[in-house]
Amino acid sequence: MEETNIPERVPTGISGLDEMLHGGYFKGAVNVVSGGSGTGKTIFGSQFLYEGAQKGEKVMCVITSEESHSIVQEMKTSFGWDFAELEEKGIITFVDITDPALRLQKSVEIAPSELIKSFKKLVESKIEELKPDRVFIDSIEALFLAIESNYKLRTHIDDVFGVLRKQNVTSVITVGKLFGLNEMVEYGADSVVKLERVRTGNTLQRSIYVMKMRGSGTINEVRVLNISDSGMSVLAQSPYLE
Ligand SMILES: Nc1ncnc2c1ncn2[C@@H]1O[C@H](COP(=O)(O)OP(=O)(O)O)[C@@H](O)[C@H]1O
Ligand SMILES: [Mg+2]
Repeated sequence: MEETNIPERVPTGISGLDEMLHGGYFKGAVNVVSGGSGTGKTIFGSQFLYEGAQKGEKVMCVITSEESHSIVQEMKTSFGWDFAELEEKGIITFVDITDPALRLQKSVEIAPSELIKSFKKLVESKIEELKPDRVFIDSIEALFLAIESNYKLRTHIDDVFGVLRKQNVTSVITVGKLFGLNEMVEYGADSVVKLERVRTGNTLQRSIYVMKMRGSGTINEVRVLNISDSGMSVLAQSPYLE
């Protein structure tokens, strides 16, 4: 029988979630975090990078829209995570595709498929240059919104995810709830974690579950997601039970 190499696990750094994932993400996998606005996607990805940085890994954050520009400031005020300092030390690199210097921004002159092609090239060359262990893309929808056919969309998603897998980086990619785009992105991912808000009577609670993880068992329960001044963690309880 042929020997199969079981890939290493990469802990997310989100306590309680690694248990749900039976130890963490697989090294080199493309992991999607999906949820509506304000469900905690940006915090999730930032904590994933911060965990790597604390362990001496190199990490990369790809910003694709105006919405993510304040990530450094928000993580500082929310949790005291100093990404600016980590950037000075060369531990984290930010790649902002809306930076005019990269000439990658959306414009009427650039066809959507050209934008994706340039994005792929840019991310590929940055990964080759910096060799990060972890990559966080916040978020992917800006890139794919203008693609008119679902068939083309699938191909583009596969292409972008293929670039990440080929480079053997462990990545987290966020996607918002938007015109069914999230479903297409989830389809192409190696793992999907869903973030939601659940209303029980008058209380709103954050919830999290693992929708899929290729090649691994998972804990198949909806659990409470907690965000506090020390970051994000998953509690061993369901938001649906008192
Ligand atoms: N220190 C904190 N304690 C509790 N909740 C926080 C803290 N910092 C941020 N949050 C919550 O996190 C939410 C934002 O999460 P974010 O990751 O930006 O969501 P998304 O990227 O899905 O839109 C804020 O609306 C806020 O309620
Ligand atoms: Mg966000």
